[in-house]
Amino acid sequence: MRVTATVNGRERDADGVWECESLLTLLRERWGLLGSKNACEQGECGSCTVLLDGAAVCSCLVAAGQVQGREVQTVEGVDDPAVHRAFADEGAVQCGFCTPGLVVAVHGLLRRNPAPADPEIREALAGNLCRCTGYEKILDAVRSAAEEARS
Ligand code: FES
Ligand code: FES
Repeated sequence: MRVTATVNGRERDADGVWECESLLTLLRERWGLLGSKNACEQGECGSCTVLLDGAAVCSCLVAAGQVQGREVQTVEGVDDPAVHRAFADEGAVQCGFCTPGLVVAVHGLLRRNPAPADPEIREALAGNLCRCTGYEKILDAVRSAAEEARS
């Protein structure tokens, strides 16, 4: 199967895609986009989060063929200085394994809701697991990025 999609604003294609191949495999192994991390491969951890037509999805649960003709944004394509700065400044990055998925999810959240309340932030990030930070620093980073983006 041949798959063509717009990835981070650029058209990409791949030949010989297996019917059960995931979008995560397509991104990492065929297109060399290693920012989306592979941890559980079961939709549990959120480390592989990308935006598909603007909506956050676990790329390990999306079949590669489902992205035909659609827009994919990976962490490599998230040009969002407020989010990057907030994660660094608030100490929301420790081992960093969860960070790409969180950055994509936060970017997606703030694009559709520039002033999220805490319950909305928690709901948007409920699918992203972090083993290091205890989540408070991540919540601080989202609040701070939202504030900066609005000022
Ligand atoms: S690798 Fe996709 S949710 Fe964990
Ligand atoms: S910073 Fe280590 S898993 Fe989140």
